[in-house]
Parts: sequence; C-alpha cells; structure tokens
Amino acid sequence: QDAKLTEFEDNDQKPVGFGRMLRKEDARLLRGRGRFVDDVQLPGMLHLAILRSPFAHANIVSIDTSAAEASPGVKAVVTGETLKGLGLAWMPTLSNDVQAVLATDRVRFQGQEVAFVVAEDRYQARDALELIDVEYEVLEPVVDVRKALSPDAPVIRTDLEGKTDNHVFDWETGDEEETNRVFASADVIVKEDIVYPRVHPAPMETCGSVADFDPVEGKLRLWSTTQAPHAHRTLYAIVAGLPEHKIQVIAPDIGGGFGNKVPIYPGYVHSIVGSIVTGKPVKWMEDRSENLISTGFARDYIMRAEIAATREGKILAIRTNVLADHGAFNGTAAPVKYPAGFFGVFTGSYDLQAAHCKMTAVYTNKAPGGVAYACSFRITEAVYLVERIVDALAYELQIDPAELRLKNFIQPEQFPYTTKTGWVYDSGDYEPTMRLAMEMAGYDELRKEQAEKRARGELMGIGIAFFTEAVGAGPRKNMDILGLGMADGCELRVHPTGKAVVRLSVKTQGQGHETTFAQIIAEELGIPPADIDVLHGDTDNTPFGLGTYGSRSTPVSGAAAALVARKVRDKAKLIASGMLEVSVADLDWVKGAFQVKGDPGRSVTIQEIAFRAHGAGDLPDGVEGGLEAQICYNPSNLTYPHGAYICVVDIDPGTAEVKVRRFIAVDDCGTRINPMIIEGQVHGGLTDGVGMALMEMISFDEDGNCLGASLMDYLIPTALEVPDWETGYTVTPSPHHPIGAKGIGESATVGSPPAIVNAVVDALKPFGIRHADMPLTPSRVWDAMRGQATPP
Ligand code: CDP
Repeated sequence: QDAKLTEFEDNDQKPVGFGRMLRKEDARLLRGRGRFVDDVQLPGMLHLAILRSPFAHANIVSIDTSAAEASPGVKAVVTGETLKGLGLAWMPTLSNDVQAVLATDRVRFQGQEVAFVVAEDRYQARDALELIDVEYEVLEPVVDVRKALSPDAPVIRTDLEGKTDNHVFDWETGDEEETNRVFASADVIVKEDIVYPRVHPAPMETCGSVADFDPVEGKLRLWSTTQAPHAHRTLYAIVAGLPEHKIQVIAPDIGGGFGNKVPIYPGYVHSIVGSIVTGKPVKWMEDRSENLISTGFARDYIMRAEIAATREGKILAIRTNVLADHGAFNGTAAPVKYPAGFFGVFTGSYDLQAAHCKMTAVYTNKAPGGVAYACSFRITEAVYLVERIVDALAYELQIDPAELRLKNFIQPEQFPYTTKTGWVYDSGDYEPTMRLAMEMAGYDELRKEQAEKRARGELMGIGIAFFTEAVGAGPRKNMDILGLGMADGCELRVHPTGKAVVRLSVKTQGQGHETTFAQIIAEELGIPPADIDVLHGDTDNTPFGLGTYGSRSTPVSGAAAALVARKVRDKAKLIASGMLEVSVADLDWVKGAFQVKGDPGRSVTIQEIAFRAHGAGDLPDGVEGGLEAQICYNPSNLTYPHGAYICVVDIDPGTAEVKVRRFIAVDDCGTRINPMIIEGQVHGGLTDGVGMALMEMISFDEDGNCLGASLMDYLIPTALEVPDWETGYTVTPSPHHPIGAKGIGESATVGSPPAIVNAVVDALKPFGIRHADMPLTPSRVWDAMRGQATPP
C-alpha cells in the first residue's frame, strides 16, 4: 500500500499529465475539511423549513398562518398567495414546463411545497410548520400511469390554460413504415413488456441553499447544491427579474449529484424570497425524506420492446412503444429538441436495418422529475431496453447471448456509424472489448460450471450487457437547454512563477475534476498537476457553461481545457522564440519546454517563459504581456463510450435471494486521463446498478402516498451487497475530441442493471422465465419462480 502511495505521490510531481494520481481534492474531503452548503454560516443567518402537502391531489381551501407567525423566533411565513402577489408563484422548469414555487390553487403530488417558514433556527422553523392550518379538499389522484390518459382520469394540470388531459408530449424517432416492413418479413419476432421503475439518485448530501440578498448592492449571493451554477443563474435572472450580473451562484463542495441537483427546486427560490423578505441570509437544507419524496426521481418508463431477427440470429430491427411517467410537473432537464433525452440510442451497439420508437409522456400525481440519474438523458432506459430484448431473443433462438451480440456488432470500419435513429457514433471497436470481458470472466468455464450446477438444481446465472452511450451534450447546433447552448468555457492563467489556475464552467460533485483537469493542463503544458489549481462552481469567477451532468465534463469541458492550454502554448512559443532568438518554425515542443531544433541544449521551460511573459524586457512584436487564454468550446459531436459487462449471480432456491458473486466490467472511454479515478467512477456506478437491479424502487399506494420516503424503505446498496469488482479496459479514442477522451462517469450505472437482470433471468431459465422486472427483490424472484409476475 505504501509503495503504491509513493508511486502516486511521485506522479503528482511529474510534469506528465495522464496517469494514476491521488486526488488533489481528497486532501480536504478526506479530512472533513470540505465546505458544503450546510457548512455556510453567515452573520444573522435565518433558517427555512417547508410545509409539504400530505395529499397527492387536493384543492387548497384555506391556509391560516397566524399561529405560525406568532410562534417563537419566526420571522416570516410565506404562502403561494404571497408569492402570487409578487408574480413568483410559478417558475419555468428546465424542460419548458412550469412548476409551482408554492401551491396556490391545488397540490399535485404528496410532498409538494405549500408554505415556508423562516425562523431564527431550524427547530423553530420546523415547529412553526406544525402550526400552519391548511384545509384541503381531497381529489382523486392519478397514480397508475396507464390510466393517466383515460377519458375519465382527473386532469392534473388545470393551471395550464385549455388543458383537458394529462398528456405531456408525444415523441417519435426512426422510420415506422420501414421498421414494420422489416418486421413483417422477419423469421423471428420477440416481444417483451419491460418496466424501468422509478428510482431516486439519493445523493449523500440532500439539496439546500443559502441566499443572501444585499439590498444596498442589489446583489444576490446564492450558495446552492447545483450541478449547473451558470444555467441556474440565468434562470434566476429570468424568473426573479434580477439583473444577471447581480446574481452570484456559488456551488461549493457537493456531496454527490447524479442528476438530482440539475433541476431548480422550489426550495432554492424560497431561500431567495426569504432573504429578500427578511433582509437576512436564509438557509434551507432539506432532510432525507424531503429529498426522496419531492426532488427529481429518475426513469419510470413502461416499455414494450420488439426485436426482429433471422432464424440464424441476425438482428434486423427493433421497435418500441414507451409510456413515460413525468410526475406532476415536467421537471426533467433535457435539451429542447430531445424531450425523451437520448433515448434514441435504443438501437444499441448493433448494425440494424430499421428501428422505430413511439413515446407518450404523461402527468401523474407524483413528484416531478425524470432526471438523468447518472446517465446522459435517458440512455440508461435505452440501454436496458435493448440489452434485455437482445437477451430475450437469445433465449428464443437458443443462442448464447455473447455469441448473439458478437454476431451483430457494428464493425470497426463502419465508424463513424449513423444509427437508424440518426445518431452518429464517433468511434468504436466492440469485439475486442467483448472478448476481453469474456476472457477475464473465463466465460466458457463459467458456462460449464453453470451446466453442472443446473444439473444439481442450483441456480446460477451469467448475464451480459454490451452498451454504447452518447455523452458530452452537446453540439450547439442541435442542443440547448431553455435556449442556452450546451458549450463550455475555460480560462487558463499561468502566473509569473509558472504556477497556473484554470477556471471551469463545469462543477464537480465528487468525481475528481480538481485532479483530472489539472492533469489535462499538465499533459498539454508540462506544468506538474500539483502546480495547477482548478476553480469551479462560482459564477462570478468562472466562465459561462452548462454544468456537469450526463458525463459531459470530460467530453466538453475537458476538450475546452486541452484547447485553452494549447492556446497558451502557442503564445508561449512566440515568447520562447524571442527568448531564444530563433523563429517559431525553429522550435520544438518537448513536454514542458521549447527547444531549438537540432540544438537541445538551447531551450526554455514553460516556467521561464511565464516569468518572461510577465517580466521585464521586450516581448516579440505584437505579443501582449501575460500568459493566459480563454475559450468557449462547442463540441462537433457527442462522444460514444462503450463497454462489455458480465455478471455472475447465485440465487438461493429456498429464499430467492440474489447474490452477485462476480462482476466483470470492461470499459472503453477513449483516452484515459486518470485510471484510478476512472476505476472509482466505475465501482460507484456498478454499485448503483446493483441497487437499481435488486433493491431500489420508489412506489406509491393507490392514494399517491410515496412508499419510499426513507432509506429504511428505499434500499440503497452498501459494501455488503456488492462483490469485488473486476475491471478492465480497451482504448478507442474519440476522433473529434482534442485528447481523444470520452466520458466515463455514468457508463457503469447505464451498463450494469441489464447485466445483473440478464444474469438473474438466466439463472431462472429452468423455470421457463424470459423476463422479470426490476427490482429483483427476493419476493419478486420468488414470484417469478412460481410463474407469477409481480406488477411493478
Ligand atoms: O461529467 P462528469 O465529470 O460526471 O463525467 P466524466 O466527464 O465522464 O468524468 C468523470 C471523471 O472521470 C472526471 O474526473 C474525469 O476527468 C475522469 N475521466 C478520466 O479520467 N478519463 C476519461 N476518459 C473520462 C473521464
């Protein structure tokens, strides 16, 4: 262990950028020196608590706040009516809907914000909530998504003028006619109804904010748990009518986001209003139950999948019909032209003749969301669909699922490959990745072991998933969120002594940007990562950009960092030519220094150049002093990482408990910046996958009560439920990314659920089972073994 640490520490001092290196941010995070929103303490700060609806659907008849107002320490009680008077009762969501900041007319999900109290401390604020008297008239809730569009379903969004049903949007991709034609002539068609249940990102740190409005400066400072500080700032400016330059959004350390911290929540706005009303800083920090019942959930897709193939196992086409539950307000954050996110990649890693998807999204009386929980806008659902239906086909054709996949992969020479739904996969070489996973797993021996065990009545399953993701949203020509283009700025300053600071528009939530972005600059400029500070998460001090989610940081902002470093290097070259008195054409870049061609003895280091750039003496004609640059990077395409996952499970035939015995994950994220961080990202995502596949589900009773409101009911995985992960990699660089890197942050969350479910279904093969829905809890597996499907 010690030897390993020394190796890392040495690397830290090396000018070389890429490679294993201990995380710079861990110096503070592991010592408890991180500074999270809840650590922010300001003089005179007040505390805010939110009164939430106990009902999923009800009219608000009256609200009496008098007792709460008289309660000790209370400084303000605010209701929807108060906000209405200020024009602030509703706010836009990041997907072009509107959401109530506080309910005025009616409540539309259990946990919806009805009023808030600002008091001297958190306890007083919470106590005062008990004293608010709300009279509700309870309405029939829409809980079953399948009934949301029936003509007798109550209309949820009566706030939307002219709305007569619960329809959110229809969306379609691919060629329906062509797909039907291919299906009509196929030898084999396999159909399955597949549910991706509602799950929750459940970050370790819940959501919260501290708002401090200074009436003298007219400036609002907002510390908040946001993955996208700049986009939030713009939205606050639009909603509150405050000038944008007078709003500073600061995202300090964030304790995990996973998509949960992309939307703007009413609580953030409450703290702003609270601060304006009281003239004091106001802190809001939600508790675990509030986070689980009211903030962005994920998934909740009911998918009918069909696959068409030849008898020999050549996959011809896939079609699907999806019913999407978006809750009471469409609160996802998705690029405007992609209401279903990147679900269009449901064609997977296979070379198809045709594909088609039809989707209908509906409102229900549930919390708003559909956020991209550790995935790039609905890719998790798409990958699950294709990898499940391919396995169902393997089952029908009695072909080994690995062999079926190998037979149908898009071939390396076909890249860039345009899918039947219009996505241009940048690069890929799938077979070596798959073969490596099979080799690491000892696939053939595993199948032998399984056959022996089956003969003895033991339940062992081997599941495969092969995925292609689309990450790095996105090219501005077709991707924006509420009109904001999905590009990222980056600014780099090299100080006179050769130390540097790089400012990013993306925002780490624990995934190590302070290390990897320093490594990117180090790789390009030869300055050791330890000499480079990475600043992010403060809109006053970083360039504009759309933030971190959907594994977009490395594909977009990482490219920006590489390019801004190259810009600085270009300038450094001009200065070096002056210092060495040769023309720029006579200079070679050797990492960290410019050298005169053919005369290695004559060179200047980047540190010497930095001093000269700021120092005395003339610079070459036309060269300004200083050594810094700034860019805004607009990616030309997304990046398409891929991976092959193999899972081995054992099921206890007596209790139906699933044990993940082994899990082999081979990822390809192109150029690898920091393999240790990549492994950490993969380990975390795989653990997430075990949770989704086997344990997690946010469900509701028939009245719309959320049944997963605590971590006693909503089970998330721990070290006890997971095996020692076995990871491997291949490297297929992205041709359009300046350093060839693709995203990795979410690959494992995307790829692992189908591998695990495929393994469980494979173990249950002797029972004639072709599909079972997540989460595969012991009771569900038990029911499946007895031929009864548990309705999700
Ligand atoms: O957007 P987000 O940071 O969540 O995802 P990402 O860009 O995939 O990066 C996750 C972490 O892995 C970051 O610290 C990256 O810099 C690192 N990474 C890497 O070391 N090499 C890659 N090819 C991709 C990501």
